[in-house]
Amino acid sequence: MSDTLSPIDTAKFVAARKAVEFVEDGMKLGLGTGSTAAWMVRCLGEMVREGGLKVLGVPTSGRTAELARQQGIEVVSLDEAKWLDLTIDGADEFDAELNLIKGGGGALLQEKIVATASDQMIVITDVSKQVETLGAFPLPVEVIPFGWQTTKALVEETLVSMDVLGQHSTLRMNGEVPFVTDEGNHIIDLHLQRIGNARQLALVLNQIPGVVENGLFIDICDKVIIGHGDGRVSTR
Ligand code: 5RP
Repeated sequence: MSDTLSPIDTAKFVAARKAVEFVEDGMKLGLGTGSTAAWMVRCLGEMVREGGLKVLGVPTSGRTAELARQQGIEVVSLDEAKWLDLTIDGADEFDAELNLIKGGGGALLQEKIVATASDQMIVITDVSKQVETLGAFPLPVEVIPFGWQTTKALVEETLVSMDVLGQHSTLRMNGEVPFVTDEGNHIIDLHLQRIGNARQLALVLNQIPGVVENGLFIDICDKVIIGHGDGRVSTR
């Protein structure tokens, strides 16, 4: 399959194919969102349809739920599953401590809830997501629509008080209108360049009224599987 793919899709596919080797019969699985996670859902679907694998999948977005059902994977809600064995998801950035920025696809809230409710989280990426310090990728912050401009101003003030570089933030748009998450919220992207203390920033952001969640995943990921364009896979 990987012969016909571009190098970037090969990287995503081989990472996904490696990650599903950790799936065992009867597992309850968190299914991530994004183009890399979609490869994982397709690989899993093949194992269900052709290998007789039995799993329950908890999707992290409407998009993933639709794809999982198309692939023949039995989909349940997190409340039905209660606790998960493993979540496999993509990421926008990861560092040497396996801390992440997620939410480029706008699904960070469900992704964080699902990953936190799992015994293990495996992240699948291509090599471009590996960074020394998090922050070059804009940090997504999910906010409720009520008073979002005030929330945005408070977030910027907080960044100034923490001496975070950048401090510039933008409301994520979907064409001419604000992007709306699966929970009906908006996303403010923080253009920070470099996040010195990601742990502290994650905690402080979530204390601002109007902020629902931020895209920093600290101490949640257990393993990163990195796919390469030539079909190699490495693990952190
Ligand atoms: C969605 C996410 C994605 O996992 C992240 O954006 C990576 O996406 P892709 O695999 O398409 O590069 O966090 O909210």
